[in-house]
Amino acid sequence: MMMISSMHTTLFVGTSLFRHTNSLRTLKFCLPFSSSAASSLSIDKKKWRQSVFSALEVGGVKITRQDVVRDDPTNNVPDNIFSKLGMQLHRRNQHPLGILKNAIYEYFDTNYSNKFNKLDDLCPIVSLKQNFDDVLVPEDHVSRSYNDTYYIDPQTVLRCHTSAHQAELLRSGYTHFLVTGDVYRRDSIDSTHYPVFHQMEGFRVFVPEEWEASGMDATSFSAADLKKCLEGLARHLFGDVEMRWVDTYFPFTNPSFELEIYFKEKWLEVLGCGVTEQEILNRNGQPNNVAWAFGLGLERLAMVLFDIPDIRLFWSNDERFTSQFSKGQLGVKFKPYSKYPPCYKDISFWINESFTENNLCEVVRGVAGDLVEEVQLIDNFTNKKGMTSHCYRIAYRSMERSLTDDEINDLQWKVRELVQNKLEVVIR
Ligand code: PHE
Repeated sequence: MMMISSMHTTLFVGTSLFRHTNSLRTLKFCLPFSSSAASSLSIDKKKWRQSVFSALEVGGVKITRQDVVRDDPTNNVPDNIFSKLGMQLHRRNQHPLGILKNAIYEYFDTNYSNKFNKLDDLCPIVSLKQNFDDVLVPEDHVSRSYNDTYYIDPQTVLRCHTSAHQAELLRSGYTHFLVTGDVYRRDSIDSTHYPVFHQMEGFRVFVPEEWEASGMDATSFSAADLKKCLEGLARHLFGDVEMRWVDTYFPFTNPSFELEIYFKEKWLEVLGCGVTEQEILNRNGQPNNVAWAFGLGLERLAMVLFDIPDIRLFWSNDERFTSQFSKGQLGVKFKPYSKYPPCYKDISFWINESFTENNLCEVVRGVAGDLVEEVQLIDNFTNKKGMTSHCYRIAYRSMERSLTDDEINDLQWKVRELVQNKLEVVIR
């Protein structure tokens, strides 16, 4: 696992993509696409029909499957990821993620008299520059790898964090903003990790008059304001909880912190934040000012607030899930409708040098989709000849129904075949 503080934002325990520094990870932010649906109409009617099927629009930008999924070694976006583009769960007011987003909006509107601009429809297809360079992610950071990020081509990715929009929003003149969106990361599989999840980014710029009067230096002033703001937000969402601040690292903030709350007898990481690196302000039209930024993972918080046990449920269209939530009702506890039994299947193989767990997980998701609950390494050894064997246990379980033996055996055979052919490992 990976990224900037990792990505499952900082929210998913210690897997922050961006945190570990030396681990050698009219707004039109979409790139223009060359192949428009209209031009394919004049060329080939059959193609046109196909592209209508797989065309969607995000933030006013038309996206077709061919724009995102390509049979080309510089592209690692599978169809199941393309199918999530444009779903925008965070924009559904009756969905736990939309309810949570609105509750955070409410906190900012009340405490900052509507000063924060809210953006939740920015296109998730961004340039490498937006996703990494603009927020000072080092060239050799693990989050830039094909193993961790979905690349459309060598210069274009599916954003792996909402920080990808900081620089352009600053350049467009925004000084107080909240950006909510779907973010994409290649990752392992378990009940808290899914390759698409949702983040909210907060950003606030201060002008010199604001800190000069305080007697503090700009950085201390900004850090103090940030902490006060986020402690208030945590209380707004979780009530009167115990909190603590933990120092951390992000390439785009300094100092950087994580906020943890004591919830159900455990310290839970709630968000990552910090005082924005001056370089980002200098480059984007705010050289005399200071700023703070934070990023939080909506799924992680919603799982706790609504008692949602598995991250796949957020994508469920089952009425037994969707009917349990209503607009404005934060923290209504989810009642599981029934728990269907998991089925475990093991797969062992000799790995090669290019093998990674993320690649394996991508193959398993490609075959089993949301029927896979967990992929876990259960055995790992190297023999005298220096060959390394891994054994993974795959848990298959539907959130909605019982699976038949035949169905699972069929999935497992497909997984074996693809693991062998695509990952070029030797099954034992
Ligand atoms: N982008 C960071 C992540 O995804 C979160 C973050 C945002 C941290 C803004 C600090 C400031 O892990």
